[in-house]
Amino acid sequence: MKPVRLAILGLGTVGGGILKLLQENAAEIKRRTGREIQITHVGTRRPRPDLNLDQKIKQSADLLNIVAQDDVDVVIEVMGGIHPAYEVLLEAIKHGKHIITANKALLAEHGNELFKAAEDHSVQIVYEAAVAGGIPIIKVIREGLAANKIDWLAGIINGTGNFILTEMRDKGRAFDDVLKEAQELGYAEADPTFDVEGIDAAHKLTLLASNAFGIPLQFSKVYTEGISKITAQDVKYAEELGYRIKHLGIARRTANGIELRVHPTLIPQEELLANVNGVKNAILVQANAVGPTLYYGAGAGAGPTASAIVADVVDLVRDISYTEDGAGTVPQLAFEALTDLPILNREEMTTGYYLRVNAEDQTGVLADITTILSRAGISIDAIMQQTRLKDSIPIVILTDPIQESIMDEALAKIQALPAIHGETIRIRLESLDQ
Ligand code: HSE
Repeated sequence: MKPVRLAILGLGTVGGGILKLLQENAAEIKRRTGREIQITHVGTRRPRPDLNLDQKIKQSADLLNIVAQDDVDVVIEVMGGIHPAYEVLLEAIKHGKHIITANKALLAEHGNELFKAAEDHSVQIVYEAAVAGGIPIIKVIREGLAANKIDWLAGIINGTGNFILTEMRDKGRAFDDVLKEAQELGYAEADPTFDVEGIDAAHKLTLLASNAFGIPLQFSKVYTEGISKITAQDVKYAEELGYRIKHLGIARRTANGIELRVHPTLIPQEELLANVNGVKNAILVQANAVGPTLYYGAGAGAGPTASAIVADVVDLVRDISYTEDGAGTVPQLAFEALTDLPILNREEMTTGYYLRVNAEDQTGVLADITTILSRAGISIDAIMQQTRLKDSIPIVILTDPIQESIMDEALAKIQALPAIHGETIRIRLESLDQ
């Protein structure tokens, strides 16, 4: 069989990592595919003499031209950003090339169009590297758990955010200082607001949910909150109550539709996800036959991302070999089989809460707050009055799960009490271990 020929678009940290891995593990990869893999083109504006590329590999900055070449079977896109990646990949698909991408933003926001084009041209788009770096979670859902109906999944899917929360908690470091270090370590997105405002996690959750529930990609319907408002004070109070604050992406099937949400979440300290620290990612999947399973590993960095990309290369090489024998490809987003389960609005979602109310030291204020909550049918799980800070007393309350719209109304009433100072902090709370 003739070799499968690759074009790599983007020669930054990840592009370099892929070249290194293909070279270092060439024997293993050959054993697993039974076929030669050749890199024929590299698309980059900044050549990398340090990589000592084989002279036979053609280098160019004209990406549209590369993806039209006959000596390319698979295009690997690791340049990031939506434009020109979208136009280049669409062109590649039209030329019958299979696609491997790590670009979660592109797929979450334009995946429906790209997958449709891929189906029309009988090519594959695979994207293991787009979600949770080196953890093979897409393959887990597509292959390992393929017999199950997935009830929900919850995960730490942004390494930068988890690194920041861990350092704040363990070392009492300031948010900005840790973010700067995450950028220096190469964990953060080009625009770090994607990490700290939850957008990166929402992109990844969009991809996970589409796989888990067989729904179209619906990034705009993910309720998204980042970690930028989390203070050392709330981290400390949560600890005192036996909880950790983690930034989670949650996709849950309910009787009324699907919850898609990304936000800081209190989870009991003893739960597995509460103990996933630093830049590590982890995803807990609850599926109806197997029960809960947990996947843990490095969520960012050149090695883990290259590992996921090269695993996709291996899969595609196997697939191409079969299709050359006359079998059909299995589309990533099977449009015929998609379900139209509704995605719930934030107000329709249900979760527990951590509330921090800043109150004047007045007789009856605690009773007023608890009366509002109990009249709304909100059950209090724990309550703790903290020592006075300047002119107010922080009151921390944990509640049982309640629909968000009910909590909105109750909080508006609490906020309107004359003895309440400043904005009441609310952080969602989940108990996930089964
Ligand atoms: N910025 C991302 C993260 C990189 O921190 O998780 C991996 O997608």
